[in-house]
Amino acid sequence: MARKKISVIGAGNVGATLAQRLAEKELGNVVVLDIPITEGMPAGKGLDILQSGPIYGYDSQVKGTIDYSDTANSDVVVITAGIPRKPGMSRDDLLNTNAAIVKAVTEQVARTSPNAILIVVSNPLDAMCYVALKVSGFPKHRVIGMAGVLDSARMATFIAEAAQVSVEDVQTMVLGGHGDTMVPIIRYCTIAGVPIAEILKKEQMDAIVKRTAEGGAEIVKLLKTGSAFYAPSASVGAMVEAILKDKKRILPCAVFLQGEYGIKDLFVGVPVKLGERGIEQIIQLNLTVEERIALQKSADSVKELTEILRRQQVVS
Ligand code: APR
Repeated sequence: MARKKISVIGAGNVGATLAQRLAEKELGNVVVLDIPITEGMPAGKGLDILQSGPIYGYDSQVKGTIDYSDTANSDVVVITAGIPRKPGMSRDDLLNTNAAIVKAVTEQVARTSPNAILIVVSNPLDAMCYVALKVSGFPKHRVIGMAGVLDSARMATFIAEAAQVSVEDVQTMVLGGHGDTMVPIIRYCTIAGVPIAEILKKEQMDAIVKRTAEGGAEIVKLLKTGSAFYAPSASVGAMVEAILKDKKRILPCAVFLQGEYGIKDLFVGVPVKLGERGIEQIIQLNLTVEERIALQKSADSVKELTEILRRQQVVS
């Protein structure tokens, strides 16, 4: 069977770490691309990752490049190009810079890999997904944003720590936009199937919800020079694996909603089934009135950014 081809656009912290994870999992051959100004950087990183193969025992080919023709006919393309935030910045502060970058990247990707499934990582995530959808002209099941898997993993980490249990036994669910208004759904968080409300105190759960929503900022503040990349790249890795192995995993992802959850024409994080066709199903949860209001509020903040892009005619 021919190996799958995965291209990662942006060979920075998220992109290069992701390329390494994809190769280590032998999910396919990996191309990692950056802009010409970076000269040999992507090629150097690609070669370095390739040379880990004999030690880790993988045969995935890894190539760094500045030329889109090397990415041609990819099965999956992950967009990590853009600037990360610095301390004091919100993801929204990246809007204009990253919209221009994601637009330019998507034009190239749509031309060279017209059948690819696109996974967007650049922030502000939900608005960047919108740019990728509009500019690529791809059907909505082939444009997916990575946010919920990461936010859920952060939440699971905090729950496992508070309950002193293995992270493997923790299930979490974070919906909404990838920002301060994200909606961790406590009701769907369990430890080995037991609702966490039966295990943790209310104060503990409140603290976990808050820390989850501020999870990215906590790391930006510590790093000072950029934003998180180990857990983000791990999250994308799980999504790529679900798609290329056609696992039909149920994962929270940013998807273009068209009436589901009462939200229209916006990317918002909800649980979906991921398989070889990309988004194969949007799972509709029965939310409480409070949860629904919180999700709507989160969608409203995504809408604000999307409207700015429309007004500036970055997208139609
Ligand atoms: N085409 C390709 N690559 C680009 C382009 C472009 N038009 N513009 C910038 N890049 C590259 C940069 O040269 C850099 O190598 O994107 C890379 C970004 O890497 P980092 O600065 O290390 O940022 P990173 O931490 O990887 O975050 C990238 O993902 O999580 C989000 O908010 C984060 O938007 C940010 C993105």
